Amino acid sequence: FSAFLTDSFDRRHSYLRISLTEKCNLRCQYCMPEEGVKLTPRAQLLSTAEILTIARLFVHEGVDKIRLTGGEPLIRPDVVDIIAELRKLKELRTVVLPRLKEAGLSHINISLDTLVPAKFEFIVRRKGFHKVMEGIDKAIELGYNPVKVNCVIMRGLNEDEILDFVALTEKKPLEVRFIEYMPFDGNKWNFKKMVSYQEMLDGIRQHWPNIERLQPGLSETSKTYQVPGFEGKVGFITSMSEHFCGSCNRLRITADGNLKVCLFGNSEVSLRDAIRSGASDEELLQIIGVAVGRKKKQHSGMFNISQMKNRPMIFIGG
Ligand code: GTP
Ligand code: 5AD
Ligand code: SF4
Repeated sequence: FSAFLTDSFDRRHSYLRISLTEKCNLRCQYCMPEEGVKLTPRAQLLSTAEILTIARLFVHEGVDKIRLTGGEPLIRPDVVDIIAELRKLKELRTVVLPRLKEAGLSHINISLDTLVPAKFEFIVRRKGFHKVMEGIDKAIELGYNPVKVNCVIMRGLNEDEILDFVALTEKKPLEVRFIEYMPFDGNKWNFKKMVSYQEMLDGIRQHWPNIERLQPGLSETSKTYQVPGFEGKVGFITSMSEHFCGSCNRLRITADGNLKVCLFGNSEVSLRDAIRSGASDEELLQIIGVAVGRKKKQHSGMFNISQMKNRPMIFIGG
């Protein structure tokens, strides 16, 4: 495996998340402030060609999974061209995008934090509940299995719906993933609003005592469970209470062209500037190698993270 993509703890980074845009049609509370965010001028965002240059370089070094993120990646007008070009990279196993797309993508993740339409509008500050529900059914119909549904649990908002979400997996081949609320700039995170994995699981066990833990996959962000006999599964993304930094295989490219080696903290380096000043592949790899080499062993724990300078989630892409 490429030395440039291996860090000092021997983690091999084979999964690249590329943010295609900073724009979104929703305004989720946990992702950005109400007033929205100041968008980067277009000229400073990666062009299609630059995205493909970066993707090719990483795939050549051993990346076999790319997730396209945002903002909402489907807002980018050339998203289909980008996917089509990425699919030509033979070594690439998986091209994924966290929203419905009928372009032959291998996996889809969809955000849905509530099953109550009025609450949906409160959490995402926009309309669209029924569209998302239809999108999920459409994705199932198209044969995506499982369709992953990301559900960020926030105390006082939607923790009372956890059982309803689990019930949804009885008949549908969904993997509902309960995500511990994480702090990002502008999202007003506080410890009290976070519902931990243990608390969620305890609540579910009161109803379904026989829910079973499934075998974990390699470098998975989520701990997966299933109620015996249910079609779908339930996962927990325990970033805060039980981080999974030890098996992290992820690197990120922001829409403005920074390589971000960890979701948390603002240690970033601009690949865009390097490309625009004519850097060769070898020079780019040197820059990447140095940044990856500096990746920390793990994030600094939930209280320190919340004080750390980062970006709002909308600029990171999850
Ligand atoms: P798949 O396994 O391909 O579905 O990827 P994923 O689990 O990373 O999926 P997704 O992009 O839907 O992200 C789900 C949640 O996991 C989001 O809240 C992400 O912010 C979080 N997440 C993804 N990668 C990391 C990571 O490296 N560290 C932490 N702490 N959280 C992550
Ligand atoms: N905490 C936890 N998860 C978050 N996401 C966005 N913001 C946060 C946050 N503050 C999740 C959404 C989205 C995924 C990519 O990241 O559920 O689906
Ligand atoms: Fe948009 Fe996703 Fe952020 Fe919600 S979490 S505002 S859907 S980018």
